[in-house]
Amino acid sequence: MSSTIPCRICAGPVQEFFDFGRQPLSDAFLPVDADFSQEFFFRLAVGVCGTCGMVQLTEEVPRDRMFHEDYPYFSSGSAYMREHFEGLAKRLLTTELSGGDPFVVELGCNDGVMLGTLADSGVRHLGVEPSASVAAVAAGKGVRVRTSFFEEATAREILAEDGQADVIYAANTLCHIPYMDSILAGVRALLKPTGVFVFEDPYLGDIVERTSFDQIYDEHFFFFTASSVREMAARNGLELVDVERLTVHGGEVRYTLAPAGQRQPSEAVAALVAEEKERKLSDLTTLRAFGENVLKIRDDLTALLTRLRAEGKSVVGYGATAKSATVTNLCGIGPELVPFVCDTTPAKQGRLTPGTHIPVRTPDAFSGDYPDYALLFAWNHAEEIMANEQEFRAAGGKWILYVPEVKVV
Ligand code: SAM
Ligand code: TMP
Ligand code: ZN
Repeated sequence: MSSTIPCRICAGPVQEFFDFGRQPLSDAFLPVDADFSQEFFFRLAVGVCGTCGMVQLTEEVPRDRMFHEDYPYFSSGSAYMREHFEGLAKRLLTTELSGGDPFVVELGCNDGVMLGTLADSGVRHLGVEPSASVAAVAAGKGVRVRTSFFEEATAREILAEDGQADVIYAANTLCHIPYMDSILAGVRALLKPTGVFVFEDPYLGDIVERTSFDQIYDEHFFFFTASSVREMAARNGLELVDVERLTVHGGEVRYTLAPAGQRQPSEAVAALVAEEKERKLSDLTTLRAFGENVLKIRDDLTALLTRLRAEGKSVVGYGATAKSATVTNLCGIGPELVPFVCDTTPAKQGRLTPGTHIPVRTPDAFSGDYPDYALLFAWNHAEEIMANEQEFRAAGGKWILYVPEVKVV
């Protein structure tokens, strides 16, 4: 725990503050007949840079292992998220994209959940999406997609073909990318001087406040704050000019960057930076206390599930989320405690969860014979899921939540 590695933003010393141990790839759902001896594991640990304050993983998984033709996360699986992205697309149409012949590029457009709306309204656009599984769905919606990783070389090719962009956008994608120098050099080259780079990702402030430790997994490399993003932008010829707190995915921030000196930063930037300083958000003491809270949740959840099993109660997992890989592997939750997890994603159904090998079944398996308890791994979609599953409650079923603490509701 005392060794340091160089920061992926500034090369300063990264001090580890929590080690999740041996973890699988969070989205690598296995066929039932898989050779388990071939399953890939790595050490999931998280640290903070003593120089720029960026919180980051201390070990990097090669990108092609995570994002490929079998990538199983389809963003349009949530009605709430579809509305969220449609709302943003409509807002962009009346603001940053309201000039003559605007051009927008999205990194990690996934199944076209956001660009679909812009494509329908005829805006010149391009999605850059390395995972062919989801890119094909976006293309089916009329979205123009390039199936590749965004990096500096990609940006230069796009620039040559399409010219500079008014908006570059990324949701739940920038935090997935360790090679930030290349990304930001690409953004700088591709963006018009008057343009903006807008991205939204899980906010470290919410993760620490709610102990939502399951936001930490292979794909989530960085855990941004306004302070660390402002520093990261400044090192790369960009400037943080706005921040907006979002409630989606358990708490995110939407950051707006512009080429340095082009726009006046909003008061919200200074206010959030000051709040983070006041909270000592990036201090090792704060982050180590977060680690203590994680261990308490681990112990409480394991104790609860073990007790319920001893009492003969049935418990089913709800939502085979990437996040659940961290929880189940940290707590040692396998099929003996949770016999199956239900999920609406066809690409996950009939497979086994990474590392813990819990079968993933369709939601019918849940509603056909309600269990006594449902462990809500997709807690960030609680409102939507609980509204859809009112019959489970009416039948006497209870939800188990573990963020911000273990409780039964
Ligand atoms: N934007 C969608 C959303 O918010 O729901 C998708 C988010 S998904 C968690 C992350 C996406 O980033 C994946 O579809 C993945 O293939 C893509 N991705 C990973 N590395 C990328 C890169 N270098 N350039 C563009 N997309 C990338
Ligand atoms: P996420 O938390 O990373 O967005 O993943 C949500 C997972 O939960 C995804 O695999 C789809 C699944 N899901 C359901 O099974 N039912 C639902 O109602 C919702 C919203 C998601
Ligand atoms: Zn740093």
